Amino acid sequence: MSAARIVVVGTGYVGLTTGACLASLGHRVTCVDVDEAKVSRLSAGRVDILEPGLAELVTGGITGGRLSFVVGARKAVQEADGVFLCVPTPMGAGGSADLRAVEAVTAEIGDVLPAGCALITKSTVPVGTSKRIHAMLGREDVPIVSNPEFLREGTAVSDFLNPDRIVVGSDTPGAARWVGDLYADLGAPVVVADAASAELVKYAANCFLALKLSYVNSIAELCERLGADIDLVTEGMGYDRRIGRAFLKPGPGWGGSCLPKDTSALVKVAESVNYDFRMLTSAIDENIAQRDRIVAKIAGACGGTLAGARIGVLGLAFKAGTNDLRDSPALAVSSVLGALGAEITAYDPAVDSAIDGMTVVDDPYQVAKDADVIVVLTEWAEFKHLDWTIMADAMEGDDVVDTRNLLDPRTVIDAGLSWQGVGRPRAA
Ligand code: UGA
Repeated sequence: MSAARIVVVGTGYVGLTTGACLASLGHRVTCVDVDEAKVSRLSAGRVDILEPGLAELVTGGITGGRLSFVVGARKAVQEADGVFLCVPTPMGAGGSADLRAVEAVTAEIGDVLPAGCALITKSTVPVGTSKRIHAMLGREDVPIVSNPEFLREGTAVSDFLNPDRIVVGSDTPGAARWVGDLYADLGAPVVVADAASAELVKYAANCFLALKLSYVNSIAELCERLGADIDLVTEGMGYDRRIGRAFLKPGPGWGGSCLPKDTSALVKVAESVNYDFRMLTSAIDENIAQRDRIVAKIAGACGGTLAGARIGVLGLAFKAGTNDLRDSPALAVSSVLGALGAEITAYDPAVDSAIDGMTVVDDPYQVAKDADVIVVLTEWAEFKHLDWTIMADAMEGDDVVDTRNLLDPRTVIDAGLSWQGVGRPRAA
């Protein structure tokens, strides 16, 4: 396909990655945001989010003349062949997706979109949103296309450039195929669907991942009760290609800006058509239960009570490789510990902001100072390479609770500490 003129509305990690990557594929991309300060930072090539490779792509796009940043969607879209909506769709009242940002942008640009320009939803939107946007626009000459993204935070650029698949859905099939062609150079399979199916793919995929993780966390709990080892169980399961090896690591629960909101939203979508999606509701409940079990495990390591316990926390982000604290299980566990009377000192290599109810330090060894227990909550590789003898010397107590099964238990024990993970035998 020849270079298309693309506008991307919203410069969060999805919008910015989409804009910078489409520019790297040769398209001419204008990214729009309402935040003037952010637009000037981005225009100078300054990227605030931690996303490997993104800053380089942004700079390359700007210097190559294929990528620019502006405030004001109305002006930007007037020459566009396609407009991507990449604005937030957070969890709204009662768990449904809040579509106010999507609707506001649609209202803002509706009358100035050129005839034939595709309006493309990339934000995760409930099934039926394409139809809703179509009705709002009241224009037959602007096709609506759903093109869900499957980017993971922390690997968004490489996920974009090496996709497992591209999904495009529209009730105007030609427009869906045109959007699919924007990615032709990536050589990925393209699933061309109707709008509702494409919208559902995104939820079905994210919710399946959440189900898989709640299942693994439940099996890990069984392992603890039955004296089995989750590492060996998931290794044995993962070789089965129907199951796959990915997403089989137990932890303090799943979180982040997507899985929690998308699971709640799909339960709501199901309710709206009178389907009680019990399996998914159970997965959400199980995720809360997992957090509570982790808190109980830490309380156990503190001798049964958290009141007055000094806990050193390693990791606050919802997963390694990101500085995102949204719906972070690490933060949720830490907050519950604090609320139950523990004194929390926390370190995360990507987080330097002050957080209510805890002391955030900028050196991992500081969390060990006088700590009764150390808890690993995010799987940053650097925690594996800490000198656990120095940690042990600084600690008051001698327990390490590793909720990510990240550390080598032998190293911890050799330092004179005891180690307990999730779904694995304790080591002391
Ligand atoms: C997720 C999906 O993986 C992406 O495909 C999707 O595009 C994205 O949501 C989105 O909807 O935008 P992300 O939220 O970046 O991506 O995070 P994941 O890597 O999926 O991790 C989600 C949670 O599961 C984290 O809390 C992580 O620690 C946890 N997890 C993941 C485990 O506990 N164990 C695992 O084996 C894998």
